[in-house]
Amino acid sequence: MSDPTNAQVSNHEDKGQARAKEPLLWSLLGGSWSLFLLGLIIAVALGWGLWPTLLYSKKLQPFQFNHLVHTETAGMACDECHGFDEHGRFAGAPKMADCLECHTWSDRQNEDNERETAFLEEFVTEDDQLKKNAAWYSYAKQPDCVYFSHIAHVEKGGIACEECHGLHGKSTVPRPYYENRLTGYSRDVWEKMKMGDCADCHTRHGQPENNACFVCHK
Ligand code: HEC
Ligand code: HEC
Ligand code: HEC
Ligand code: HEC
Ligand code: HEC
Repeated sequence: MSDPTNAQVSNHEDKGQARAKEPLLWSLLGGSWSLFLLGLIIAVALGWGLWPTLLYSKKLQPFQFNHLVHTETAGMACDECHGFDEHGRFAGAPKMADCLECHTWSDRQNEDNERETAFLEEFVTEDDQLKKNAAWYSYAKQPDCVYFSHIAHVEKGGIACEECHGLHGKSTVPRPYYENRLTGYSRDVWEKMKMGDCADCHTRHGQPENNACFVCHK
């Protein structure tokens, strides 16, 4: 590498006088180009950190539900809470009323469990009635124009929950939900379950016939 200060001087001989008076730091940095680069690096770094924070609004689930304690300690299967109804439709997340089968003041699982007590205080009246429901945010929620059937994927396609949802079924607290302020999409959809991602998997599974518009947009 040649000395940058010398290169400057030979390129700008007519400015030689002015340059000599410039501060030492400026010449050490090699002039405006490295300042421009420095600015660029700062801008990119800020954009990297700041843009996602501005783009997404962060929301917490209405209750900090613990999946792991139910699948491990309580030994429950996923379909005890996320089953299909008699028409083969996916039941989604369970209703809060279903939780009262196992958690009421008069018939609770564990007197010493503070998180169970917190649940009872928030959702169950003294005479064991449901106080209110919880409006869960769905990380995978698609816009209304998209048709998605769980039974086709889970039963016919034999695809595991984890393949599309990651390890949520093993979580002890639900992670925050991030909503894209511009599109209203959840960050999970925006990052990994867009139109092209659905179609890629259909192609991988040798199902290209499912990539016609009307299959997903009925
Ligand atoms: C089939 C019975 C059953 C059902 C249905 C059930 N739970 Fe539980 N739940 C348990 C058992 C067992 C434990 C473990 C209690 C212990 O040993 O501390 C538990 C633990 C909990 C705890 C304590 C969490 C912790 O971190 O220790 C909360 C809160 C809770 N359940 C809420 C719910 C909610 C909300 C629902 C409905 C979506 C629900 N449960 C449905 C059996 C059930
Ligand atoms: C005791 C009932 C219960 C059991 C058993 C249970 N879940 Fe859940 N599940 C819930 C509740 C309540 C929510 C909503 C809160 C949340 O997102 O954590 C939920 C949400 C989810 C979601 C979030 C979907 C989305 O996009 O919002 C996934 C994925 C999920 N469960 C997978 C599983 C899997 C996999 C298993 C089995 C390993 C399982 N669950 C067992 C009650 C249960
Ligand atoms: C092929 C990918 C895929 C697989 C496999 C899959 N899901 Fe989903 N899941 C989705 C999509 C996409 C949505 C959003 C659907 C919508 O908004 O119409 C969703 C939504 C959900 C929701 C929120 C639904 C609601 O009504 O609130 C739950 C809970 C859920 N899935 C649980 C599961 C469980 C449990 C399994 C395994 C038995 C599973 N999913 C397998 C893609 C998948
Ligand atoms: C991990 C792989 C995978 C992903 C991701 C996936 N699919 Fe599929 N999908 C399949 C497979 C495999 C089938 C064929 C199931 C069968 O009939 O055997 C299928 C079938 C379908 C069908 C036709 C079955 C029916 O119910 O009419 C529709 C519609 C569909 N997928 C929509 C979607 C949408 C929308 C998404 C994205 C939100 C999506 N899929 C993401 C693997 C996937
Ligand atoms: C494999 C499933 C699948 C197929 C096939 C498919 N789409 Fe989509 N489409 C989606 C999903 C999922 C979304 C929402 C996520 C996104 O915007 O990428 C979407 C979103 C859209 C949107 C934006 C709607 C909105 O409200 O944001 C348009 C427009 C659209 N699709 C048109 C089409 C057209 C035209 C075709 C045929 C060339 C097609 N799609 C084929 C799954 C599919």
